[in-house]
Parts: sequence; structure tokens; C-alpha cells
Amino acid sequence: MSGSASTTEINPLRQALPRTQVPEPSAIVLFGATGDLAHRKLVPALFRLAQSGHLPSECAIVGFARRDWTDDDLRAEYRKTLAKEIGGPDFDALWAQFAPRLVFSPGTFDDPASFHRLKKTLDEIDRTHNTRGNRVYYLAVSPEFFSTIIEHLGSADLIYPWQQSSPWSRVVIEKPFGHDLESARALNLDVSHVLDESQVYRIDHYLGKETVQNILALRFGNSIFEPTWDRRYVHSVQVTVAEEVGMAGGRGAYYDTAGTIRDMVQNHMMQLLCLVAMEPPVNLSADAVRNEKVKVLQALPKWTPEDVRRNVIRAQYTAGSIHGAEVPGYRQEKGVNPESTTDSYVAIRLELNNWRWAGVPFFLRTGKRLPKRATEIAIQFRRPPTQLFEHEGDGHAEGNQLVLRIQPNEGASLTFEAKIPGSRRRLQDVRMDFRYGTAFAVPPPEAYERLLLDSMLGDQSLYTRTDEVESAWRFITQILDAWKIPGMPRPDEYVAGSWGPESADALIARDGARWRRL
Ligand code: BG6
Repeated sequence: MSGSASTTEINPLRQALPRTQVPEPSAIVLFGATGDLAHRKLVPALFRLAQSGHLPSECAIVGFARRDWTDDDLRAEYRKTLAKEIGGPDFDALWAQFAPRLVFSPGTFDDPASFHRLKKTLDEIDRTHNTRGNRVYYLAVSPEFFSTIIEHLGSADLIYPWQQSSPWSRVVIEKPFGHDLESARALNLDVSHVLDESQVYRIDHYLGKETVQNILALRFGNSIFEPTWDRRYVHSVQVTVAEEVGMAGGRGAYYDTAGTIRDMVQNHMMQLLCLVAMEPPVNLSADAVRNEKVKVLQALPKWTPEDVRRNVIRAQYTAGSIHGAEVPGYRQEKGVNPESTTDSYVAIRLELNNWRWAGVPFFLRTGKRLPKRATEIAIQFRRPPTQLFEHEGDGHAEGNQLVLRIQPNEGASLTFEAKIPGSRRRLQDVRMDFRYGTAFAVPPPEAYERLLLDSMLGDQSLYTRTDEVESAWRFITQILDAWKIPGMPRPDEYVAGSWGPESADALIARDGARWRRL
């Protein structure tokens, strides 16, 4: 298969996002400006947006953090990061345009005076940078500060009434949004005291990935897939998010309190499930899309602890090797309790209780220290009602399988059966393959570029809504609660560098299926 893309309205500088999407002037306040996320993702994304002409010239980036820094200190720090992350022959010229946008506002998250000082700084920036009072507040901080910061933003008059369309204020909240249903509800309540839902942008960076957005394009921008996209034709669906990384970058302590179920399943995997299983929205507005996604989450099963035991596998990696390098086991990682029962791998078999999907098993698996990094969704179609042909090889035909590769090697492939040339009626699996890289000669934008741009444009479609977050937590919390019951089995084990525990193979084998080899 091949594809072609029109480049007529695409920015010649960096042709990933349509040029027409230039937001109104605004100030972007980064809470946690000196942190890891700001350095690794947010500032590079803002720089790229500036580079591609998507940041209006009247746009300032305000770093808010506890350091005793000046604007120049912030600039020097970000320059180092950007030179390393982006660099290139034009870097100095681009940096010279970018640097004056950067302003530092020192402060602590629980100090009202810091927020009053921030207000003065922002008022001043409105004059110097002509940002017209518009604000995006980005909470790239540890979750215990979310409520405090939002409360202080409210008390310092940094949030405008939501009914007013101009100037506007919006708050982007990083993950994790709660650690169970109760805490997510409490956080939503705190948020609602200060902000209207239309001002809240809850991040799930998977939604910013181009290939994740393409799930809807493939399903609803074509007419050939949708008629077969249900229980009549689909045998099962597999969603895999495999990672090679372990607890690098000192993540052990955080991870041990979260586990894969909170870190990956509650957010990213639930979003992938929603996009693959949802009904067509009436249009692509934020609420139309989110209404349909939330219905999928509402159709998730309600499980007893015994159901959880039968349908959810949790496991931890033991010492092993990845690409020939020895790696420690999960419980030997820095920051992890040596007695930990936290999951570094989860596999789930679930059915959605709705008209379209009743009876179709969805298999989800995700884990750290698996043999390779790969995210994909595989739709396995049913076999033809009668078998007229023999099959080549071990007799195991893949049959019709549509695989959406989210990362890496972004693309999609369709497997079907073809007759092997010759006198016998024998079939073999063959594949049609589509690759983004080949079809569109432009790199996809980084997820954070798209998400930041959308927050400035006021487009919430790639952000999660209150009811979505709570419905996902409702499903996850019943699993977490079951795991706490005395007598529930401890996590299984898998060797680092393998594809997970045997119990996960047994889980899928119950339905006569097997995990795809990636
Ligand atoms: C993050 C998780 O949300 O997503 C990490 O906290 C995980 O544990 C990461 O590694 C995966 O993101 P990506 O974009 O690399 O697939």
C-alpha cells in the first residue's frame, strides 16, 4: 500500500502540524519548570512549536519553581537542554528568537505570596510581550501539589470566570490524576471549586501521539473497516504496550507505589481501548469524542475478587538480560522495596458489556523489561465459516488480522490468506503493509507538541474529562481492591527480557488464542 499527503497548507519549516493552527497570544506558566518533564518534553516541544511557526510571536513562557533564579539563569539552563535535545545548524538563530520569551518567577507551591508575585509578573508580561491576559498554567509537578496550586491560582485571581471568552485561562494537569477512584474524585472536586471543566486539560500523552489519533481516522475516515468492526466479525482484540526500560532514572520509588496497573493501564491502555472500541462520534468536537469514549469505559465489567483472579495477571520481572545486557530483577531495583508486591507487568482479559462487543475478548498486556519497545493493537477477525482450503506450515493461520502499530515503525498491516502457486489448494498468510514514514515524508510531531498547541487553541479533544477519568478508575480500583485481599496470590514472575509470565499465556489460551509475537 502507498499513501500520499497534500503539503499545500503545511508549514515548510517543519511540516508536521498544519500551519493554520496558530493560537492566540498567551503566557504559558510552567509549574515545575526546573523538573525532568519540563526539560525532557515541555521545553523542547515549545521550542519546536516556535521553530515551526506555531507559537505566536506574542507568547511568553514563564518558569515557576523554587530556585533563586533570574530570567538569565532559566535561559542558560534551557539553552543547555535544547542544544542537546534539538541542536542543529540553525540552533543559534532560533535560540536568539526563543530566549526573550523566557521569564522566571521564583516561588513555592504552597505560598500565597508567590502567586501574587506571579500575577504581577504576568501583568507585566502582558505589557512587554503583548500576551493579552491569556494564560495556560501547566502543572508539571508531583501530584500532591495539584490541588494546592489550583487553589492558589484561584485565590490570587489568576483564573478568569469560565463564561468569559477573552481573556481566557486554562490549566493543564499532568498524570497521575489520583491513585484510585476515591482520590481521583477528591481531586476532581478540588479542581471544580476553582475551575470549570472547560478550563481543565488532563493530560494523557498517548492521546497526543499521531498514530493514536489515527485510530479514529482509520476507523471513521474509511468505509471498509467499520462494517466488520464488531462481535459478528471480530474474534478478539489484543492491545500490547511493551517496554524494554526498567526503573531507569531513579523511578523505582515512584513506581513501587503505582505499579503498571496505575502507571500504564488506568490511563494509556484504557485510552487505546476506548479508541478501538468506541462508537462513531457525531463530530470531532471534544465532547462528542469524549462522550463516546466514556460509554466504552462504562461498559467495562464489574468484577468480584474471584473474577479479578481469573482475568488479571500481575507479575514482576526477575533478573535477566535485554539485548545481551544483564539487568537486575524488579525487587532489586533502586528505590523498590525488596519485599514489594507491585506489578511491573499486567495482562487482562475483559469483555465489554455492550451491543457491539458482547462476547468478544479484549486482551491487554503491558510490562517493563520486555524484549522490545512496541505498542500495537491487533484486531483478530473470525475465521470463514467453512474451511475449504488447507493451510501451509504448522496449520496455524493468522487469518484476517488488522494490526495498528502505534510505535515504533508506525503504520498498519492487514494479514489475509492467499493461495500458494501450484496445483494444490493451499493457503499462506500474506500481508499488506502501510508505513507512515514511507507514505508521508514528514516526521510526526511529538505528542507534547500537539497537546501543548491544543491547550493554547482551546481544543480539549485530546484531553480526558472528569467522567472518563473516574470511569477508568472505577474499573482499576476493583482490581486494586481485590489484590489487597489477604490470600490473593502474590504477583507471578517473568525473567527480564522475556515476554511475560506463563500465566499470561494461559490466560489468552483459554479463548483459543495466543499473544502475538512482536
Ligand atoms: C509514562 C509512564 O506515562 O509513559 C512510563 O509513566 C512509561 O512508565 C511511559 O515508560 C511510556 O511512554 P512512551 O511514550 O515512551 O510510550
